[in-house]
Amino acid sequence: MKRTHHCAQLTSANLGATVSLAGWVDTIRDQGGIIFLDLRDRRGVTQIKLEPHTNANLGDQVKLLKPESVIGITGTVVARPEGTVNAALPTGAVEVEAAALEIHNISDTPPFPLDDAGGDKVNEDLRLTYRYLDLRRPKMRKNLLVRHRASKSIRDYFDAQEFIEVETPALFKSTPEGAREYLVPSRIHPGHFYALSQSPQQFKQILMVAGVEKYFQIARCFRDEDLRADRQMEFTQVDVEASFVTREDIYALFEGMLKKLWKDVLGTDIPTPFLRLPFAEAMNRFGVDKPDLRFGLELADFTETFRTSGFKVFAATVAGGGVIKALNAKGLADLTQGELKNLEDIAKSLGAKGLAFIKVEGGEWKSPIVKFFSPGEKAALTAALGLAEGDMVFFAAAPWEKACAILGRIRLEAAVLLQKRGKLTIRHDDWRFLWVVDFPLMSHDEAENRYVATHHPFTAPVAEDAALLDSDPKKVRGQHYDVVLNGMELGGGSIRIHQPALQKKVFEEVLKIPADVVESRFGYMLKAFTYGAPPHGGIAFGLDRMCALLCGTTSIRDVIAFPKTQKGQDLMAQSPTPVTPRQLKELHIATVLPATD
Ligand code: AMO
Ligand code: AMP
Repeated sequence: MKRTHHCAQLTSANLGATVSLAGWVDTIRDQGGIIFLDLRDRRGVTQIKLEPHTNANLGDQVKLLKPESVIGITGTVVARPEGTVNAALPTGAVEVEAAALEIHNISDTPPFPLDDAGGDKVNEDLRLTYRYLDLRRPKMRKNLLVRHRASKSIRDYFDAQEFIEVETPALFKSTPEGAREYLVPSRIHPGHFYALSQSPQQFKQILMVAGVEKYFQIARCFRDEDLRADRQMEFTQVDVEASFVTREDIYALFEGMLKKLWKDVLGTDIPTPFLRLPFAEAMNRFGVDKPDLRFGLELADFTETFRTSGFKVFAATVAGGGVIKALNAKGLADLTQGELKNLEDIAKSLGAKGLAFIKVEGGEWKSPIVKFFSPGEKAALTAALGLAEGDMVFFAAAPWEKACAILGRIRLEAAVLLQKRGKLTIRHDDWRFLWVVDFPLMSHDEAENRYVATHHPFTAPVAEDAALLDSDPKKVRGQHYDVVLNGMELGGGSIRIHQPALQKKVFEEVLKIPADVVESRFGYMLKAFTYGAPPHGGIAFGLDRMCALLCGTTSIRDVIAFPKTQKGQDLMAQSPTPVTPRQLKELHIATVLPATD
């Protein structure tokens, strides 16, 4: 029985035809001895009618059928009777009257319902244990298709722009400057390890030295990070590098890619060019370097207002070089005690000493701190925050970056609470792309008392700031850029350092990596740069994150066929697992397990 059509194909145009279909039994209904089943394949469903009383051969087999069994049928396409046509289905005007049935496999009863609504309600661990069933759900099937279309759109785009896809090694070497790595023991070189590539960064720069000029790759990357909804240990980057380019070239290239991608996958036109927001402005207004621009609730600065305030907490913070930031969560004065406590806990987890607030209720300011405010301070707040009945203002008094980050987080939480109350609507398909630019090249790591690269050590300084590298590295802006969409960092990149002397200086004099360590980790790269390195730059995008946004889901696990859990496990194949002593011996490894109680 060779299939002639797929399950979303038959229409009134096929009436009278003899056809063969194959697939999974979606549903079975017995209506007075006549059996109707929905047969499902990757494309859709077709209704099959079986009349066992007129075909005894069918009858014996039909009794065995259960949902999710795999069958083939041959029969005749007929019109559905008046009143039973399903206009919502492409095949809804017809059904197939089965003459023969072939059972390929009877299915056990699935451990959870395979429709979208039913599957969404079950525990994700169960879905991941039976991922092959989860992937049969329409939503998950659609997600896989979107990912395929996205990859294809991206490949077509770069191909048309004369970029070539080059594969780079997954087995690389340990360069502990970035995220934590996965180490892979070498059997042939006892005590030596590879590291799984965190990104093709170094290879793509070497490819520029090799004269490739325009490189891209849809590349698997590995990072031993704490997993979250938007982070996996193994993820995919759309990785790009090009020679003789400026930041503007990269912006235009990627705006073009995203425009085509959104058109190809969703049929949506996204406006370009994207807004460009300097890092400092993003922090000042939104409290984060990946702002969600779909709603307002912007932060305001009251450092000057409170410089000589009677409220000692604020005045002392300003005297110590800190800032006073405020956020008017408009309409949130009906916050419950529990919700307020939760916000305070969040602020404290980010290092806040407290979360001062003013609630405007019944024409009054209700607040534990307003008794300390002068009339001038109150007037300044009212004017700048547009204070009105029902408002809820939060304050953070702290060093600049911390104060911004605290209120940035409270802003997101406030948006969730306002949405719950129906006072704010945020649509997942309100696409607000932007570039965040002018990041500081270096950040100061207080714990280690040294500078660390904000992005990575290969990023070039903005030309006019380069002289500050010696005197005040913190003031140097990097030629680094991030693409942000609706609060998620989609991608980031930079124009790179291509002068070996400058790269060496950044490693040794700014980042204070000892010369011998620089030589052993990056010596090969510095050497390559002495043989004619072109100016170059690039970017990498998280394909998983991009697909999650395209699919309207908040978890990248929903767009990865076989993701790991938050605990880094594959529940279906059950990994990781212990290995045999013999395997360990062959790899020259002895394990020291933590004590268990
Ligand atoms: P970066 O480290 O910013 O840059 O990574 C680029 C993009 O990759 C995605 N991403 C992740 N997605 C899922 N799970 C993870 N654990 C994860 N980590 C990162 C994000 C991020 O924006 N080589 C540089 C790029 C360059 O300079 O060209 C790099 O890797 O979407
Ligand atoms: P205190 O005088 O320490 O009791 O604080 C008075 C109010 O200010 C309380 O509501 C605290 O939560 C809040 N508060 C204290 N320190 C800060 C700070 N650094 N930023 C914002 N609010 C604070």
